[in-house]
Parts: sequence; C-alpha cells; structure tokens
Amino acid sequence: MTEDRKAALDALHAEIRQCKRCPLHVGRTHAVPGDGPLDAHIMFVGEAPGFHEDQQGIPFVGAAGKFLNELLDQAGIDRDKVFIGNIIKCRPPSNRDPQINEVTACQPYLERQIELICPQVIVTLGRHSMAQAFPDEKISVVHGQPRQVGERVYFPMYHPAAALHMPSLRSTVEADFARLRELLEGRIEPDIFTPLPDVEQLAFF
Ligand code: URA
Repeated sequence: MTEDRKAALDALHAEIRQCKRCPLHVGRTHAVPGDGPLDAHIMFVGEAPGFHEDQQGIPFVGAAGKFLNELLDQAGIDRDKVFIGNIIKCRPPSNRDPQINEVTACQPYLERQIELICPQVIVTLGRHSMAQAFPDEKISVVHGQPRQVGERVYFPMYHPAAALHMPSLRSTVEADFARLRELLEGRIEPDIFTPLPDVEQLAFF
C-alpha cells in the first residue's frame, strides 16, 4: 500500500539522518537522504552532498543544483515530481571523490530507495553514479544513451558540476537533457542491455 511505502521511505530517511555506518558521519552537519515524491517516475542519482547540501540536508541546492534546475526547466521536467538523491548521503571532506568503503556502506540505502520508489527511469549524474549501474563504461562514451535493463531505463549523464568546471561540456549536458525529454515522450527508444552476472551486487540492479 502507498501509505506503507511512504512510511517505509520516511523511516528509511530518518535512519539515514542518524547513520554512523562510515566515518563521514563525524564531519557532517546533515545527512542528505534525498528529496522527492514516492510516486516519482524519474530518479536522479548524483554523487554526494556538497557544502550547501550538507548545511541544508537537501540535495542539489548549491551551484550544481541551480544548473540542474535550469536543465530540468529546459527539458520541461518539474523538479517537484522527480526524486533526487545521491550514492553517498554525507558530504566527503573538501568534496573529494567518494571512497569505496563509503559507497559500500551507503549502497543499501540507495537500493532501498529504488525499491520503494520504483522509478521507471534512473538518471545517473556523473561517473561515480554511472559506475553503480555500468562499472565498465566510460561516461564520455555512454552519456546520453538510455539503456533498458528489465523494466527500468538507465540514462547516464555527465554531472552538472562537470559542465560548470568545463564550460565546453555545457552544450553536451543540455543536449543529453533534450534526449531525456525525447525518451520521456517516447520519441527515442533505449538500447536493451543485459548486465553481466558479476554486477549483481551493484545497487541499481
Ligand atoms: N553534487 C551531487 O552529486 N549531489 C548533490 O547533492 C550536490 C552536488
């Protein structure tokens, strides 16, 4: 039942706010479980909270978040109707890359969010998030190419922050969001993808 799933998601997010499974809890102001409705059809999965997200406990509220909002607007996607989360729920010091022990500790939370929300499309933002689904791929090769695995479509994209650091990527990111719109409107079809058996342990499958 929807009420049960909503209660389970709220309980999961309360658990994430108290989490001490990895050392990142020591330096956090707030854990950032994620934000969006239970019935979201699209889930965006970023990397990890930055300074502003850690301060507010809300994902994508800093510079990358502002750019994400612009991209969503351009693609005609209402931020209030999508779920936005991260593979890591606490901010790594100085925004360094997530470490394997942190990803492993946080993985069950993302798995449970996916299970409860059951999105039709998961948009991975950046290479760390993409690696949860497609560990052997390069973001420079697969960005903007939707892939269907079972009932779900995965859409790898560059991280919005990458385009802020490297302005030449901006038009690529914008074009990928335009393709996301086309996918949602049924104007492009995803490739059918069969994961190798050894990726079973990854959060997204
Ligand atoms: N970058 C991310 O990957 N996630 C956030 O929540 C903010 C910036």
